[in-house]
Amino acid sequence: MESRIDLINEIIRNRRTVKPEKYSTKIIDKKIIEDIVENAKWAPTHGLTQPWCFKVFYGKGLESFGDFHAELYRASVAPEMFKQKKFDQFKDGPRKSSALIAICLKRQESEKIAEIEEIEAIACAVHNMHLTATAHGIVCYWGTGGKTYSEEMKTYLGLGEKDRVLGLFHLGYPEIEWPTAVRKPASDYCVWIEE
Ligand SMILES: Cc1cc2nc3c(=O)[nH]c(=O)nc-3n(C[C@H](O)[C@H](O)[C@H](O)COP(=O)(O)O)c2cc1C
Repeated sequence: MESRIDLINEIIRNRRTVKPEKYSTKIIDKKIIEDIVENAKWAPTHGLTQPWCFKVFYGKGLESFGDFHAELYRASVAPEMFKQKKFDQFKDGPRKSSALIAICLKRQESEKIAEIEEIEAIACAVHNMHLTATAHGIVCYWGTGGKTYSEEMKTYLGLGEKDRVLGLFHLGYPEIEWPTAVRKPASDYCVWIEE
């Protein structure tokens, strides 16, 4: 049997970003998505504020989201700046995904914990989801393009004034071979101070 450390190394190192164009048509079972979302909450969170909030688009919800985002893009650019390719990407990306999770920050009422720490906690939560997805053979794409950060997106997602949208997390089974990646050696980004 594989040891726990071998298993976690393998999952962490094989977690990959893959965009919806490369997803197969195989649908992710709702139970698996629930499992992925469940693991999000085990992220560290300063003061246990648990600042995350996820809106899961699934089935016909994916079409509604894609239509909304594409039309919002169209409405926000001058006609001469409009790019059909971008419009199509915003419309089709969700449709090609098996699920799309809007990653949201629910701002603490007292604002006691610094916002940056709430964002950091949510990044950890998203990573938990991405790693869980990897273990299920699912690839994901955390996108922040288009109108992700707009006020209109916030309103569409039912968020309050001080809340934030931090990204659009797309999920699907890969149609392609599982991608590989490279990273710099640890000696490039880690310094040891021992005296
Ligand atoms: C906060 C955040 C925002 C991101 N936004 C985008 C994006 O808008 N477009 C994009 O192509 N990739 C985006 N990515 C994904 C990165 O491009 C991806 O993680 C990187 O290429 C490394 O690939 P890997 O995740 O497979 O290791 C984002 C990642 C993070 C963490």
